[in-house]
Amino acid sequence: MTTTNTMKLTIPARSQNEAFARSVVAAFFVQIDPTLEQVEDIKTAVSEAVTNCIVHAYGGAQEGIIEISCEIDGDTLTVEICDYGRGIDNVEQAMKPFFTTVSTGERSGMGFTVMQAFCDEVNVSSVKGHTSVQLVKRVSSPC
Ligand SMILES: Nc1ncnc2c1ncn2[C@@H]1O[C@H](COP(=O)(O)OP(=O)(O)O)[C@@H](O)[C@H]1O
Ligand SMILES: [Mg+2]
Repeated sequence: MTTTNTMKLTIPARSQNEAFARSVVAAFFVQIDPTLEQVEDIKTAVSEAVTNCIVHAYGGAQEGIIEISCEIDGDTLTVEICDYGRGIDNVEQAMKPFFTTVSTGERSGMGFTVMQAFCDEVNVSSVKGHTSVQLVKRVSSPC
């Protein structure tokens, strides 16, 4: 039997909402019976993407919103995290390990690398005013 389901969440880009966002995605994910490790993986990846919206997209200026859309199709969860902030000039460069545009030493530049390590696919598209990060996580069927 094929399972399909969707949900959408819109939240202000505030650090208090980061833990909330990752928990909501995890709660949605459990319906396709992931392992605890897979749940932790998606929480970690969502955390990184949401933190990027909070830290980089709106840059402390007027508070923006984060839209999170989730879709389950069979054994696959797809999460899209969107913001309407400044955009990423060079996505390929931004996704390289240790690349960061924040020079205070607070950022490690490993956000996208972590997302790639914990997800089956990470697809990023960005123009000024709109960035989308898509995370794909598959729950492999038991042998
Ligand atoms: N949502 C976003 N909006 C604008 N810029 C972003 C966004 N997400 C990531 N970036 C850019 O990509 C860079 C790399 O992101 P990441 O790998 O998470 O490292 P870090 O957050 O530690 O800088 C950031 O420094 C920033 O310039
Ligand atoms: Mg980051």
